[in-house]
Amino acid sequence: MYNILTFHFVLAFASCADLPTLYEYYTGDGVTSGLSVDQPYFTLNGKNITIYSGAMHYFRIPPQHWRDRLRKLRAAGLNTVETYIPWNLHEPRNGSFDFGSGGSDMEMFLDLEGYLTAAQEEDLLVIVRPGPYICAEWEWGGYPSWLLRDENVKIRTAEATYMEYVERYFNTLLPILAKYQFTNGGPIVAVQVENEYGYSPEIDKEYLQQLYDIVKNNDIVELLVTSDGASSGTSGTLPGLLFQTVNFGGDAATVFGILEGLQPGKPLMGMEFYPGWLDHWTDVHHTVTDNDFKNNYEDVLSYPASVNLYMFHGGTNWGFLNGASIESSDDNSEFEPCTTSYDYDAPLTEAGDYTSKYDIIKELVAQYNPVQTLTPEPPALVERQAYPDLPIDGQLSFNDIVSKTTSIPSTMILSMEQLPINDNSGQSYGYSVYRQEGLNITADSTLTITGHIRDTVMILIDGVLISNPLSSSDDLNNFGYWRLDNSTITLTTSDLTEVTLDIVIENWGRANGGLFYHQLKGLMDDNHVYLNDQELTYWLIYPLEFKKSFNNELSGWNSVEDGDLPKGPGLYRATLTLSDDITDTFIDMSEWNKGLVIVNGFVLGKYAFIGPQQTLYLPGPFLQPGNNEIIIFEHFKPASAVKFSKDTIFNTP
Ligand SMILES: *[C@@H]1O[C@H](CO)[C@@H](O)[C@H](O)[C@H]1NC(C)=O
Ligand SMILES: *[C@@H]1O[C@H](CO)[C@@H](O)[C@H](O)[C@H]1NC(C)=O
Ligand SMILES: *[C@@H]1O[C@H](CO)[C@@H](O)[C@H](O)[C@H]1NC(C)=O
Ligand SMILES: *[C@@H]1O[C@H](CO)[C@@H](O)[C@H](O)[C@H]1NC(C)=O
Repeated sequence: MYNILTFHFVLAFASCADLPTLYEYYTGDGVTSGLSVDQPYFTLNGKNITIYSGAMHYFRIPPQHWRDRLRKLRAAGLNTVETYIPWNLHEPRNGSFDFGSGGSDMEMFLDLEGYLTAAQEEDLLVIVRPGPYICAEWEWGGYPSWLLRDENVKIRTAEATYMEYVERYFNTLLPILAKYQFTNGGPIVAVQVENEYGYSPEIDKEYLQQLYDIVKNNDIVELLVTSDGASSGTSGTLPGLLFQTVNFGGDAATVFGILEGLQPGKPLMGMEFYPGWLDHWTDVHHTVTDNDFKNNYEDVLSYPASVNLYMFHGGTNWGFLNGASIESSDDNSEFEPCTTSYDYDAPLTEAGDYTSKYDIIKELVAQYNPVQTLTPEPPALVERQAYPDLPIDGQLSFNDIVSKTTSIPSTMILSMEQLPINDNSGQSYGYSVYRQEGLNITADSTLTITGHIRDTVMILIDGVLISNPLSSSDDLNNFGYWRLDNSTITLTTSDLTEVTLDIVIENWGRANGGLFYHQLKGLMDDNHVYLNDQELTYWLIYPLEFKKSFNNELSGWNSVEDGDLPKGPGLYRATLTLSDDITDTFIDMSEWNKGLVIVNGFVLGKYAFIGPQQTLYLPGPFLQPGNNEIIIFEHFKPASAVKFSKDTIFNTP
């Protein structure tokens, strides 16, 4: 049968039927060598290659959508996907690892082998960046918080205790990566050692040498690279052992000119070229215009150079995993937490939609890539809908919540990491409640916490919030937040007898770079707490981690009278009942104030009305037919409903 449809089909097919896949082109005659930099251009298995790469972090994408995102990347004409590997997720407790079945709350994101396999099956090469430090605007730059329990540990140096932990982790991770190397028939063509080490406040070349040795001892044979800003010179690398790449947002000619000077006769590669940028809470949502992006990207391709787009698809900082910036001081005064969305104004949006930058990439790569291979049709969009508004159908007060956790009595103040829980790995994320019972507080008494709060604090007396709600970004300069050095609040205007005082400290994400050595959260040594002039000691400390096991067992929900929602921290529940029309969506939190959203036990992420982010991406695969429990931990003031949006919303703070 011949009709116009089959005619089109035959034409479309014929035009690319003679093209080989990427793997047919590079490995069709067997594999004898990997990525080589022994000449002024890259070769792979002896054939010329320009690396057109895009960054996509498996741990920021729902695994059920990995294929969709990878295929979209390949369909843009890119030949390589790049990913960081986060130590804090893969070794969530001291000595216990999770690569997809380790039982941690993030387990579903951690099947690294599944991601590498999917990338290869989608006809992509892979660059991995296992750190151990990754920055990535990720909680403590990817370091596990339990490292903070050992005061000897000096991250990013050759200090022996730190290196023991690094070596144990790498000896577990690298054998997994080794199997997936290109010359072993897998997709990995390059492995990065450390990350922007040239920016480290303390450069220790012995550290890089030891990392290099550990990598080599684990049979990593593919190209080893470092990446740094051009201004770092060779301070972040080991010339001759590690191949140097550069990170930049524009002015390719200058940047590659410097790199050619540093590494004469070698190919050029940008490991991080920024088509967009990240947001912190209170920022104006960052964007890079199509025009700037197009000009800057074309400058790179025409130079010509290889390049990795950071990010091609940003994804989401689930749960508690956002990082934060700190500028020049490590006392937390300049703390700036990253938003939950890591949309990054990237060519594929947080929910995987195409943008005009995607089209620009497809067009430019087709124009500049001298090697033609078969690329797939761009996949259809993943469906999304706005589900109907949901009423709040249950409520738990702050005291209800605290009563479901176990207290840790302590004469001294302990940070969350120092708590003797989680097999002595401490508390990594969430909130810690520091409680005093049976206090007599006279009228006009003040509470003072010395130092800077890490990161926010709420004060409750007998379960009632005393500190002010967050009403604007300016409030971040006041009591309740990190900017004040020494925070003081008046507790009461009348005499109180035998009351319970709660100091609720939130970890809003550990800094991901710079002077980020002191990242303990909660109250600690430099926070002395005074009631008037008297220092308070003897604490009951309650870890509020909101783990899946805890969230899924919440019970005793109180009914909610219409329009009668209490103020202050509490949990609010709504139920989304679905048949089989389950799609992706966004939860619109613009009418709420500040807190966390939990879906079927999984902490989806943090929200704060100050923006710019107003909506939380909720992937369809996190929902199920039947009832879905949506629980909100709101600090200050609940809204009367849970609302949804088909699209993302950013405001201007
Ligand atoms: C590989 O690229 C180099 C530099 O552009 C060029 O001189 C050489 O001819 C190319 N080799 C092949 C086989 O195309
Ligand atoms: C990790 O566990 C080992 C063995 O129990 C212990 O000796 C070490 O102190 C722990 N490290 C940290 C940072 O807690
Ligand atoms: C608090 O006041 C009550 C009533 O006046 C008194 O019985 C109690 O001993 C006081 N507690 C402390 C710790 O001073
Ligand atoms: C904070 O309190 C400490 C200890 O009382 C004091 O040394 C310091 O000067 C205070 N800082 C400010 C900014 O008042």
